[in-house]
Amino acid sequence: MRVDVITIFPEYLSALDLGVIGRARRRGLVDLHVHDLRTWTHDAHRTVDDAPYGGSPGMLMLPEPWFAALRQVTGEEPRLPGAAGPRPIQAGQLSAPRPLVLVPGPCGSRFDQAAAQQLAGEQWLVICCGRYEGIDQRVLDAWADAEVSIGDYVLAGGEAAALVVLEATGRLLPGVLGNAGSAGDDSFSTGLLEAPAYTRPALVEGYEVPPVLLSGDHVAIAAWRHEQAIGRTRARRPDLLGLSAPGSVAD
Ligand code: 6GU
Repeated sequence: MRVDVITIFPEYLSALDLGVIGRARRRGLVDLHVHDLRTWTHDAHRTVDDAPYGGSPGMLMLPEPWFAALRQVTGEEPRLPGAAGPRPIQAGQLSAPRPLVLVPGPCGSRFDQAAAQQLAGEQWLVICCGRYEGIDQRVLDAWADAEVSIGDYVLAGGEAAALVVLEATGRLLPGVLGNAGSAGDDSFSTGLLEAPAYTRPALVEGYEVPPVLLSGDHVAIAAWRHEQAIGRTRARRPDLLGLSAPGSVAD
């Protein structure tokens, strides 16, 4: 998978040198390119923001640096004003992979495990990290294929969300996790939170491992884990079971 990230804080993405994604990059499974948005500014101050029309607090990201960056990085043209759907295909590009332009932001649709699975099927992601109060809407209208939010809280910019999206997506790519680390039993792949897990020693500081895990009875172990998974999910994430949250008005 090729990934381009456009940001005013390229160093923020240095976490992608580490861990599972860092290893995937060194093995050639992920081809990551991080770009500084200010490359596409032309004034002495390399300005990327201005005050919003209509008056509201804070600053917005200017459209022109984003249009220039996305033209160069994607090799495509923006959608025409009023046009929906995919961006126009350039000459000589017919069989090349198309970039999926992703904009993290609090107004996006929820990024979840199913979304990560979908992105893992793409060949080329371009992630646009906004700062300040966001990006001029025309950039999204002209270029965005998807807007994603990583949860119901407000971040100061899209970079932390880009890290989340890339870690969740990258670990699903073929060959990134070994068989030992297969992603199939993860919480959210099964629709349930995972059962608690233990390793040696069997007794630490008076804390024991649940005896069933030491029993060697694999049927009993599977039953215990399933029961734990359901109990945990009901207590902590009843929404995953289609139940209402404790303390909500519907309760
Ligand atoms: Cl993707 N960006 C920002 N700025 N805030 C968020 C978010 C993203 N997801 C949740 N809150």
